[in-house]
Amino acid sequence: MTAAIQRRLEFPEPHHAEKTELHPELNRAHVRFIGVGKTYDGRQGPVAALQGIDLAIQRGEVFGIIGRSGAGKSSLIRTINRLEQPTSGRVLIDQVDIGEFDENRLVALRRRIGMIFQHFNLMSAKTVWQNVELPLKVAGVPKEQRDNKVRELLELVGLQSKHKAYPAQLSGGQKQRVGIARALVHDPEILLCDEATSALDPETTQSILGLLREINKRLGLTIVLITHEMAVIREICDRVVVLEHGHVVEQGPVWQVFGNPQHEVSQTLLAPLQHALPEELQSRLQAQSTASDAAVVLRLQFTGGAADEPDLAALFAALGGRVKLLQGGVERIQGHALGQLLLAVSGSAYSAEQLRERAGQWAQRVEVLGYVV
Ligand SMILES: Nc1ncnc2c1ncn2[C@@H]1O[C@H](COP(=O)(O)OP(=O)(O)OP(=O)(O)O)[C@@H](O)[C@H]1O
Ligand SMILES: [Mg+2]
Repeated sequence: MTAAIQRRLEFPEPHHAEKTELHPELNRAHVRFIGVGKTYDGRQGPVAALQGIDLAIQRGEVFGIIGRSGAGKSSLIRTINRLEQPTSGRVLIDQVDIGEFDENRLVALRRRIGMIFQHFNLMSAKTVWQNVELPLKVAGVPKEQRDNKVRELLELVGLQSKHKAYPAQLSGGQKQRVGIARALVHDPEILLCDEATSALDPETTQSILGLLREINKRLGLTIVLITHEMAVIREICDRVVVLEHGHVVEQGPVWQVFGNPQHEVSQTLLAPLQHALPEELQSRLQAQSTASDAAVVLRLQFTGGAADEPDLAALFAALGGRVKLLQGGVERIQGHALGQLLLAVSGSAYSAEQLRERAGQWAQRVEVLGYVV
């Protein structure tokens, strides 16, 4: 840990600006949006990109933003460092309204907030070292301090051996590591990531996510990230918000939103992660029981509400008869068991409705899908 970060963790800097009165819970929020709206002057008239956004991002959390293309994700994240100025409402950082900041305070604010992008935004004519050093030079940091900082950061992102390379000589993952090092030069307290892994292959994405998680834990950074890859959210986010047409339509802990998405947009975005009924089974399913030996097909869904994984022996005993597993599985997100089981129950003394009720003791949601012979 650098001395500067150590110092800040021990002695948080006082904020001289006026503090806004808030509910104690929100007082601890690192970033707070209050009724934030943003309207652009589009070619065909005004475009309302954000409307009435109320959100609180806690210090030290990894906060995900998802939504369809054009939902307002980039507009929202860019109000945090005032790359976009909201047209209405307020953005508070540590309870300080950043809307009224003059140029000087904006420069200082932007040093507290690092940002990384999908296309890395590196200077192609500068080496890795020079790319990371540049913002320090601009800030007038003396050479020796610059050298120490650049060395420390290249080590953190694992690029010591590449310091003389030019961006064109690097892989996508290495370029993003340079982007991350550059974003951290001023020991920021917030890191904004707009589609930072979208241009990377799955393996490289994993390594960049690992690095972000390490930065979050080791340096205590608050990370706000936009992605269209739901697996990224599942992997590293604590909480997630879903935007649609500039509105917040759903938010909560990742396990809750992923386990039981409420809004149609969240359900659509998360559908690939949720196991659809296999086509072959779908074609065999009948609405009514036509034969005495037909099996009842049950879908048990685990939405993370229970403390424990399902006890299969107890579940099967309660259903009676012969229980076949057609498809399913459970995964754990933030310590919660999420998933579903498709079961075919035959030869049980219970009716389909009774089976549904009995299975309800183990799963948060149970449906009778139909019958198969
Ligand atoms: N500078 C601008 N001028 C006019 N309209 C804009 C501008 N920037 C964004 N918009 C519009 O605002 C809306 C929200 O855009 P934004 O870039 O925030 O969406 P997004 O959720 O980040 O989308 P994507 O997933 O495609 O990146 C869109 O309708 C977009 O066309
Ligand atoms: Mg965007």
